[in-house]
Amino acid sequence: MGSLSCLSRCLSWKRIMAVFFLPLALSGLIPHIQYGEYMLSKTGRPQSRYNWSHLTPLKLKNRSVGLGIANTGGKAAHFTLEGHKFLIFGGSIHYFRVPREYWRDRLLKLKACGFNTLTTYIPWNLHEPERGKFDFSGNLDLEAFVLMAAEIGLWVILRPGPYICSEIDLGGLPSWLLQNPNLQLRTTNKDFVRAVDTYFNHLIPRMVPLQYHQGGPVIAVQVENEYGSFNKDKSYMAYLKEALLERGIVELLLTSDSEDKVVNGSIQGELAAVNLRFLRKNSFLQLRQLQSNKPILIMEYWIGWFDRWGYRHSVTHVKEVEHTVSAFIKYELSFNAYMFHGGTNFGFMNGASYIQKHVGVVTSYDYDAVLTEAGDYTEKYFKLRHLFGSVSAKPLPSSPHLTPKTVYPAVRPSLYLPLWDALQYLDEAVKSVIPINMENLPINNGSGQSFGFILYETSICSGGILYAEAHDVAQVFVNNIIIGFLSDKVQKMRIPKFKGCQLLRILVENQGRISYSWRIQEEKKGLVGSVSINGISLKNFTIYPLEMKKSFFERLRFATWKPGPESYLGPAFYKGILKAGSSPVDTFLSLPGWNCGFVFVNGHNLGRYWKIGPQESLYLPGVWLHPEDNEIILFEKIRRGLSIRSRGKPKLKLF
Ligand SMILES: *[C@@H]1O[C@H](CO)[C@@H](O)[C@H](O)[C@H]1NC(C)=O
Ligand SMILES: *[C@@H]1O[C@H](CO)[C@@H](O)[C@H](O)[C@H]1NC(C)=O
Ligand SMILES: *[C@@H]1O[C@H](CO)[C@@H](O)[C@H](O)[C@H]1NC(C)=O
Ligand SMILES: *[C@@H]1O[C@H](CO)[C@@H](O)[C@H](O)[C@H]1NC(C)=O
Repeated sequence: MGSLSCLSRCLSWKRIMAVFFLPLALSGLIPHIQYGEYMLSKTGRPQSRYNWSHLTPLKLKNRSVGLGIANTGGKAAHFTLEGHKFLIFGGSIHYFRVPREYWRDRLLKLKACGFNTLTTYIPWNLHEPERGKFDFSGNLDLEAFVLMAAEIGLWVILRPGPYICSEIDLGGLPSWLLQNPNLQLRTTNKDFVRAVDTYFNHLIPRMVPLQYHQGGPVIAVQVENEYGSFNKDKSYMAYLKEALLERGIVELLLTSDSEDKVVNGSIQGELAAVNLRFLRKNSFLQLRQLQSNKPILIMEYWIGWFDRWGYRHSVTHVKEVEHTVSAFIKYELSFNAYMFHGGTNFGFMNGASYIQKHVGVVTSYDYDAVLTEAGDYTEKYFKLRHLFGSVSAKPLPSSPHLTPKTVYPAVRPSLYLPLWDALQYLDEAVKSVIPINMENLPINNGSGQSFGFILYETSICSGGILYAEAHDVAQVFVNNIIIGFLSDKVQKMRIPKFKGCQLLRILVENQGRISYSWRIQEEKKGLVGSVSINGISLKNFTIYPLEMKKSFFERLRFATWKPGPESYLGPAFYKGILKAGSSPVDTFLSLPGWNCGFVFVNGHNLGRYWKIGPQESLYLPGVWLHPEDNEIILFEKIRRGLSIRSRGKPKLKLF
């Protein structure tokens, strides 16, 4: 999901629907569309059924033509796979948002629901966390994920970006790209192209052997993502196409954009696909003007929606989904459900929107999708399975068993460590005359800091009006005493008088970078620009990059943790033991009385919590728990809560 769609996401969908959209599903008519070839009997039941049992990656041995477009001589165009008429029933699952141990379960559920194709984005920022340092291991093992899909009988469409939106930090672009003031994202600017080329030199050779023509399941590759709404450089899409071709991509290429941006986001000669939530009168207008002889592919059918901190939980009703998907099937439209299974923005991978101010995307990427965040069936799953089942010649495979959930005893953290006492366990602190934003810190082999928190310290000898531009939110302390908050919207505050010289501390939280629009170019985090009191710039900072990586938590083991007080004000770590019994299963953690922070369990950052909701619990996958005792560390920014509770179901705040 990308840029323009991201823009429209800032508006209320319900309002848009009421005012502009013709909810065709209700009328049963799609004006201007003559794509229905499908024979319906008088009872409305299909006479013919799809038999694609031989069209699966393991059964189809003859790999001569791949995904093609039938030349129908004036009749409705359709896809073919190895010459056989084929519809893409796709569903999105992002390997990087699902624990690897659960990939198979989620893919089996996709197949059992009746889908024939898996689609996934590929996040550059996670695969190249530092410039020139690549990671395709563990939960980022793209090839293992794609091969598993093939084994389960699913075709695959890859969406390698390099920009993906996806409600992920900076739309999937690595934050170190922002260091270079001359680099222009999503253009043919030479510095950007150089970075993309290096990444593609590592990524594309991994994709090449997974292609259809080499015996793999990849039948198509998407070029960039919703470029039509960004549209800053006319040569950019052509450059990316070439970048894929010259590295050996031979399968069908496509572009994907919202209904009114389809033309500007397309590449001449390549298939344009459309993203939408409702079928309406003009849904395919641009598409038909561009390519009346090609089949329709709805690359993102928004079957649900994501949540943001402080905003109401999004729900897309199952009736609406049923109507829309029935129409897709009736008119033989190929489509991809975004998301089939959203998963979780573990760690700090979430992106953000801009709605008069910076607003972070929540940790859960449940998306009100076909499966829940924790991989459980929803009503949408059963309705879709029924619809797909009714047009399938063969019975669908049976649905896998439920993944068990349980409630563990509450955890009362017995130990705590104020942030100030934890600083000595950091890898490094940076001394600098002026404050430096995260991305430009001289750490991580010159790639700066991508995620987490950052603390700035300097000595001040007078009070007055403090001015600082903090992204996204900051707590301001004199020594250990909190005196106020700053944010992207609040850049000034009064520092009361005090005696002598004292330590000014500004703790800034990066709450996730905006994932769409031209604003991505400006998404620097931490303190940006100078910091002053009464107009006089402050100097000589000690800067602590609080990336909150696993290695840091390993070193914290040697810290002198103190027995926990009943209450504590200020940023601190809290430690407790979750007793998971002999065979741990999934659970959800709720955090009564806690304010804002994140939870770390056995080397895994479960992501942020924030009492403003709508998300009020964190998904803890059972596969990340050890039998019996598990250490939980919680970082809380503001004030100690009571206990960490375990629940069998997620908890949502109702606005
Ligand atoms: C493979 O497919 C091509 C194109 O459809 C066809 O010409 C050829 O005969 C097929 N080969 C086999 C072994 O079926
Ligand atoms: C397409 O791009 C052109 C040129 O950049 C612009 O003038 C036009 O408004 C764009 N169309 C849409 C629908 O965004
Ligand atoms: C589906 O097609 C395969 C291969 O053409 C055939 O062997 C099988 O009998 C068909 N199944 C049904 C239920 O029509
Ligand atoms: C910053 O540190 C330098 C070197 O230690 C010192 O000479 C200078 O006076 C300091 N500046 C301020 C404003 O404290």
